[in-house]
Amino acid sequence: MTPKTRVLLGVTGGIAAYKSPDLVRRLMERGADVQVVMTSAAQRFVSPMTFQAVSGRPTRSDLWDGTAEAAMGHIELARWAEIVLIAPASADFIARLAGGRADDLLCTLCVATEAPIMLAPAMNRIMWANKATQANVDTLIGRGIRILGPASGNQACGEVGAGRMWEPAQLAETLLAPPVNAGLLAGLNVLITAGPTRERLDPVRYLTNRSSGKMGFAVAEAAREAGAHVTVVSGPVQLQTPTGVTRINVESARDMYAAVHRQVGDADIFIAAAAVADFQPVKVAKQKIKKQGGSVQLELEPAPDIIKSVADMAKRPFVVGFAAETNDVEDNARIKLKRKKLDMIAANEVGDGIAFDCEDNTLTVIWPGGKMDVPRGPKVEVARALIALIAKRLPPPDGSPRRGARKRRTAAALPRDRVRGRRPRRV
Ligand code: C5P
Repeated sequence: MTPKTRVLLGVTGGIAAYKSPDLVRRLMERGADVQVVMTSAAQRFVSPMTFQAVSGRPTRSDLWDGTAEAAMGHIELARWAEIVLIAPASADFIARLAGGRADDLLCTLCVATEAPIMLAPAMNRIMWANKATQANVDTLIGRGIRILGPASGNQACGEVGAGRMWEPAQLAETLLAPPVNAGLLAGLNVLITAGPTRERLDPVRYLTNRSSGKMGFAVAEAAREAGAHVTVVSGPVQLQTPTGVTRINVESARDMYAAVHRQVGDADIFIAAAAVADFQPVKVAKQKIKKQGGSVQLELEPAPDIIKSVADMAKRPFVVGFAAETNDVEDNARIKLKRKKLDMIAANEVGDGIAFDCEDNTLTVIWPGGKMDVPRGPKVEVARALIALIAKRLPPPDGSPRRGARKRRTAAALPRDRVRGRRPRRV
């Protein structure tokens, strides 16, 4: 019999706590042994007895409970856990964890454990968007804590937006699935472009393309999962920013070029997934262009080639391009790899119903001297495969003329596990 994964499930005070007993069952169905620890606020929503009944273990909540401590002290409990999951994680708990507090049992366990910690935030959408909450989440991500969700949708308070706890089934699956690319890009800075650009013709019209930005955002999510600090420079898209990713919104190719060059000095890896316009109007009309009965001539000039400008930098990051092609995908991609002096290119076929605005994608990844096909799958899975390939192809940290920030990081600034040469603890 395979040993059970020991999950310490922390439940904090929020209405989503009513789903946590179901989460216990889902985790147990997937072979976990679950010990529930509740905060005092959580007990106002669900009774400790409910969790005891479903988990088969006495629910813990009090740091000062002599009997429970005698059975398994809090340090022992912190060591017992192989994974710590806090679901729901309230805004208050997130703030307390970010502050390193150890004034109740659950906070103390989080400070005392060496197990990976994951949080499933659940709160009102405005509380989630609040700058203090977001800063706390950033702090926690920087410490290697993984944030699962939140999802968007109807909220218990009657509002609609981001702040719903992930469903128990999704949490259980994510938690107990094997780690993906954990720590592969730990501590590196990754800059990504995503989405289309809009080139204005007049105050009401623009030229654009069908890019949804989904692939670029999936790459951002996958890079974040791999432990990188990720910034996305995004054209106009209707997508939620992945948790822990910094987003800079731009409109035109010119704006995107400027935003990229403001950030790229610190980047270790630059991934250009945006469908940047190749041409921009020479002049933007100040007033709406009027119909005059006949045809209209638009004068277009080449838009700045962002990726090429980055690849031409003397101290450049590792540069990865995308090539969306309607025909001769691989040949065209190889030409671009060479012409734009890229380190790697991810090529895919586009056209009606393929790749653009779809949930799935397939890639042929090419680099000087090598190639790999990534089979069709959800964009985030394809993105994970691409990130794994990038990590493999990155030059070693020392002696590389390419890396800026990476070389500048001292051993003290690197995650502990990286310095020791072990895989970081992230799951
Ligand atoms: O030349 P083409 O547009 O096909 O090249 C695709 C690659 O170049 C993509 O990685 C795209 O993001 C990038 N690109 C760019 N700036 C442009 C045009 C394309 O960064 N103006």
